[in-house]
Amino acid sequence: MSYKSTTVVHGGLDAAELHAAGVNPKDALDFSASLNPLGAPPGVRNAIAKADIANYPDRRSTTLVDALSKQLSVPRDCILPGNGSSELIHLFAQAYIRPGDAFCLFTPTFGEYEGACNAAGGKAVRIKAREADGFMWRSEEATAVIRKSQPKLAFLCNPNNPTGVLVSKLFVESVAKALPDDSLLVLDEAYIAFAEKAWDSLPLARKGRVAIMRSMTKDYGLAGIRLGYLVAAPHVIERLRPHQPSWSVSSVAQAAGVYALSQAGHVGCARREVRTAKDYLAGELRKLGLGVQPSKANFLLVKVGDASDVRARLLKKGMIVRDCASFGLPSYIRIGIRKANDCRRLVASLKEVFPRG
Ligand SMILES: Cc1ncc(COP(=O)(O)O)c(C=O)c1O
Repeated sequence: MSYKSTTVVHGGLDAAELHAAGVNPKDALDFSASLNPLGAPPGVRNAIAKADIANYPDRRSTTLVDALSKQLSVPRDCILPGNGSSELIHLFAQAYIRPGDAFCLFTPTFGEYEGACNAAGGKAVRIKAREADGFMWRSEEATAVIRKSQPKLAFLCNPNNPTGVLVSKLFVESVAKALPDDSLLVLDEAYIAFAEKAWDSLPLARKGRVAIMRSMTKDYGLAGIRLGYLVAAPHVIERLRPHQPSWSVSSVAQAAGVYALSQAGHVGCARREVRTAKDYLAGELRKLGLGVQPSKANFLLVKVGDASDVRARLLKKGMIVRDCASFGLPSYIRIGIRKANDCRRLVASLKEVFPRG
């Protein structure tokens, strides 16, 4: 049995690349990772300074699970924290995929799902969104592909990375219903905190056909610490748990998470910042004649022509955007929403790259 390996491409700063481009990392503005534009709540540093680093972490992240349980009104045994939601994706692959099993991907989408399931010997089945449909998947097509391929897992990112499309509850329910009995829909809500008018998906997790992943890395600007969690039926959590390495969520991550959850208004403030900066940025990009995909998330998918060339030109100016070629979209870049001031600096650079007239 040969395993297909996938090199997963991600956004984020690359020190060697910045050095080669003559950009001091301190001067670079990273629009390629889409995080809370306000950063971590003030006070996180104090909270992590108090974390016990001499002893091994609490393997069950008890205090963090309690805090999540209270905030989400979800029983404790339905919550599993992870070393970023990326770790949870790998746990799903290990727990559900055996060599030759099918898994469904709603594409274009985040590459880690395929990387993790390929490493477990799975076979990818793609449900493709078309540009002409505004990157919204067709419901009947999706359910037909699922019925035919009988996947062990399906991954649906909502809102989707990189398109910013937010699917409805009805869509998610119809996908879950089409899955075979012993399989699961993983709903990745890494960016849901920044979506306006998001619907409440948590009740779906109770039924055992849908598992919901969230990223505190994104919600609270903790990318250097890594923290994510899963909300799912207890039997799903118990199926993943044996695959999770001991102590995978560090004491520092647990302390940061507990403190972040106590900062009730932080995510709401970030959502408002995202809305203002996103509206401004989308307006300016359209004035430059660029096609901007409507987005419910904290990033914009922008049609620029040769994305690799545009990225390289912006990089020289210290602005890092995501070339979407690895998503199968070589004419698009993805721009993570930062504070309005940073977005203004990006617009100034874009005006040099795309002079009008
Ligand atoms: C859709 C999606 N899910 C999950 C992740 C992983 O996030 P985390 O930092 O929580 O591992 C990312 C990171 O870019 C992402 O885009």
